[in-house]
Amino acid sequence: MKLIVVGGGGREHAIIKKLKENKSVEKIYALPGNGGIAQDAECVNIGAKDIDAIVKFAKDNSIDFAVVAPDDPLVLGCVDALEKEGIKCFGPHANAAIIEGSKAFSKDLMAKYNIPTAKYKTFTDMDEALAYIDEAPVPTVVKADGLALGKGVVIAMTREEAKDAVKSMMQDKVFGESGSKVVVEEFLTGPEVSVLAFTDGKTVKPMVSSMDHKRALDNDEGLNTGGMGTVAPNPYYTKDVAEICMKDIFLPTINAMNSEGRTFKGCLYFGLMITENGPKVIEYNCRFGDPETQVVLPLMKSDLLTVMMACREGTLDKCEVEFEDANAVCVVMASKGYPQKYDSGFEITTDDDLKAEVYYAGAKCEGDKLVTAGGRVLGVVSKGNTLEEAIKSAYAQSEKVHFDNSYKRSDIGARALKALGR
Ligand code: AMP
Ligand code: GLY
Repeated sequence: MKLIVVGGGGREHAIIKKLKENKSVEKIYALPGNGGIAQDAECVNIGAKDIDAIVKFAKDNSIDFAVVAPDDPLVLGCVDALEKEGIKCFGPHANAAIIEGSKAFSKDLMAKYNIPTAKYKTFTDMDEALAYIDEAPVPTVVKADGLALGKGVVIAMTREEAKDAVKSMMQDKVFGESGSKVVVEEFLTGPEVSVLAFTDGKTVKPMVSSMDHKRALDNDEGLNTGGMGTVAPNPYYTKDVAEICMKDIFLPTINAMNSEGRTFKGCLYFGLMITENGPKVIEYNCRFGDPETQVVLPLMKSDLLTVMMACREGTLDKCEVEFEDANAVCVVMASKGYPQKYDSGFEITTDDDLKAEVYYAGAKCEGDKLVTAGGRVLGVVSKGNTLEEAIKSAYAQSEKVHFDNSYKRSDIGARALKALGR
């Protein structure tokens, strides 16, 4: 089979490596991929949002199956466009990807179908939003309705901050049209858990849970990033919590989407907060998480391509989705300065005795060298029978990956260990 994977980050690299385990895969093209992914797939210089070019490439190259990984092309209808030309895909249609594409949509869906989430109000009028904030308790959370590269959420400690956030979104349009509608919601507290789940629109099969580390600095300080590291499983996601989530969140969400005529097929990402009043949905994503995928897929025992095809065919109930009873840790190596200004173009090298998976994100080829080309450069992933082992190994192996100006957190997994009482 000939496959395309749309996207070009660490998540896509992990997906590609897993897909290659299937013997029927002859060829994988990454659109656009990156210099590191080029070790595992043929990278084609077509942007993930260039849907016409993606469809043309798939047709011209007789592609059998397409995996559309990032949010933008999914929300823009990449799966619809490919399927229209007869190309089979993994990923939701645009009318279902809206579950991530519009926070107002997802909040209204949860309210309508009694899915636990933070209380909220949606505004299209700035003055109404500002007046509401005058009465709202603080801290309060302001969210741009549309996609905003993960930056559209402001946790405001004061009413002033909340109002500034509303003004920057609605008046200054810092996120463009994504901010013409805003959601103001209740501030929740509790540990966060990411659960990625396969679904064919009828059956939901959750993958192993994971924990992201979103802040740039140790002890969860500093600016929000795309994710500085992950561990799986997440110790806060106990068997009891998992049961509640299945009953009160996962199945109701799938059923709600069906009732709305927006059947979701693909990977649905549940961003959960385990509050005193039980698990609540913080956000939905219509895709695999990054860098969650980098720890989840290495623990998957079942064949990824088979599961992805079952999601499309509606046969997920008959498909085995099994995970190892082990731990995985991803330490992200970033460019110093990320998520703000940073320099790139530094050569990336690895020692011969490196014994970990390296999933590349901000990397490109320059001649025969691999050089840094982004904020998050790569993730080093190790597995272990215990979380301690996996952490120790990921950090030891990360010492065997070199580039100037590199930065990583030193405490990925520390919070999870603490939760385990260790
Ligand atoms: P999101 O992009 O919606 O995942 O939000 C980014 C981060 O903001 C989440 O991972 C949470 O840490 C935080 N967050 C979002 N909504 C809330 C909320 N209602 N209460 C507390 N924290 C929140
Ligand atoms: N790690 C969070 C995300 O993929 O949005």
